[in-house]
Parts: sequence; structure tokens; C-alpha cells
Amino acid sequence: MDKKFSAKIFIDGGEPEETKEAKKLLGFLDGQTTNPTLIAKNLAASVSSAKLTQDEALGEYKRIAGEISKIIPHGSVSIQVFANGKTESEEMLSQARERTKWIPNASIKFPCNAEGLKAASVACKEMPINITLVFTQSQAAAVYEATLGAKHPVFISPFVGRLDDRGENGMDVVSNMIKMYQSGDKHVEVLTASVRNIAHILYALYLKSNIVTVPFKVFRQWADKNFMLPAENFVYNPGNLKAVPFRKDIMLGKPWQEYDLFHDLTDIGIEKFSADWNSLVQSS
Ligand code: E4P
Repeated sequence: MDKKFSAKIFIDGGEPEETKEAKKLLGFLDGQTTNPTLIAKNLAASVSSAKLTQDEALGEYKRIAGEISKIIPHGSVSIQVFANGKTESEEMLSQARERTKWIPNASIKFPCNAEGLKAASVACKEMPINITLVFTQSQAAAVYEATLGAKHPVFISPFVGRLDDRGENGMDVVSNMIKMYQSGDKHVEVLTASVRNIAHILYALYLKSNIVTVPFKVFRQWADKNFMLPAENFVYNPGNLKAVPFRKDIMLGKPWQEYDLFHDLTDIGIEKFSADWNSLVQSS
């Protein structure tokens, strides 16, 4: 992590050329997040009419992850398991054990539903992990509890932009989980994701989110502003977004299965990742 920033800076994308360019612009890069949608977008151009077999598509994901890994060998590269709403934890775990062998610096992403956290509770003893599609403080408490005793880095990815998109203040969720985690052992690193603009980056830095992942388009805008930092008296302006208040009644300390894991955007996100990936693949 560069001393100038209070967070690790990741790029969010599926295109190694962007990784190279972002690293050049900033002078370093702490990591990259990928997901099935981003990888499918990269591959869509080359496989437009002729679809890939599942094995070929997976091979392409592995190749892309490998290229990214070579560009940032000391960074962390998030690789996601493929899941739909019905995928069981054993299946996710078996995918994770395979994907973690792809590159030396992989962090395996699991969705924030019950099966994903069940898999993650085992995986965190074996490999770095990243819990994705997080939208609530209650989910964040569950992630913390499910990964207690982890032997590798654990990231949690609150998706701020997707909450903003529907009129709720996504950055409140980042703020709330950081506040709740203050009473914990700090084993979970908050990775601000689904970033849409420079204000998201600045507030994430101000809040001391451990990591912020930035899509290339916003990365360039930030570069144009010389990678500006939040002022000491920075105030985030949520505009008309509806506040998501901190919940005092949601505290760490219970078995993870007792927290409410439901959020409709988690379920919608899982199905969308799955659909985007399947659009590349021949149906069997
Ligand atoms: C990062 O890990 C996420 O996959 C990403 O930030 C999702 O962002 P989106 O809401 O722009 O798809």
C-alpha cells in the first residue's frame, strides 16, 4: 500500500490492458477485482457468434486472471466462483479450491448468501477470500462471524453504486460496517466496490475503508484530478439519496447463521452474474 493513500487501491475490471494502464497512471496497483460480468464483457467481442464450451470459457477466465497476475504479481486478484441461487456450498468450495491454484495471488469471491458463507467459513482457513454482493450491516456481521479464525486475508465488498442506483445511500453501508467492525478483531478488510464516481473514492478514503476498487473509467477521471485525496474536513454529499442509518441492535457476537442475510440485490446480483456468464457458454 502506498503511504499517500489510506486504503489499498484496486482496479475493478476484466481487461488486462486496463490493469496495465491503471498501474502506469498511478505508479502502482494493490490489486484487482474481477467478476463473471466483467470477464464475459471482455470475451464477448471475440466469441460473438460462436459460443464457448464451459471448459473453454473457464480456460479464458484462467488466462485473463494469469495475465492480470503477471502485471501485478504483488497485488491481490479476486476471482469469483460461479453460482446461481441454487448452487450449494460444496460446489462453491470445489470451484474455489480449483481457482485458487490458477495464480499465486488469488482471492476467491463468494456471494453473500447462506451457501456462500458456509463455503467461505471453510475456505478462509485455506485461501484468501472476498465476500461479494454485500448490501447490509447485518450481512457484514454475518461475514465477520463466519470467517472468525481465518488464516488468510478476508475482504468484504459492499456494493455502493447498486444501492445509489436505486436511491439509497450506498456509502452509508460502508460507514456502518466500518463502525460496527470497530468492536471486532479487524480480520475483515472492507473493500468499497461498485464505485461510480470520485466522491465514492474520496469518502471511502476518508472513512478508512481498507481497500477501494475503481472501474477504469472512474480511474481515469481520478487520474485527471491527480489522484486527489479527501480534505481533513471532507463532507460527503449524498444529494437526494435516502440515508441508511446505523443499526445499534445489529452487533457482532452471534453465530453467523443467526443474522439476516437477505437482500434482494444480493439475489438479483447472483442471477445476473450467472446469466452474463451463461450468455458466453453453449447450453449443454
Ligand atoms: C467488485 O468486486 C464488483 O464486482 C464490482 O465493483 C461491481 O460493480 P458494478 O455494480 O458496477 O457491477
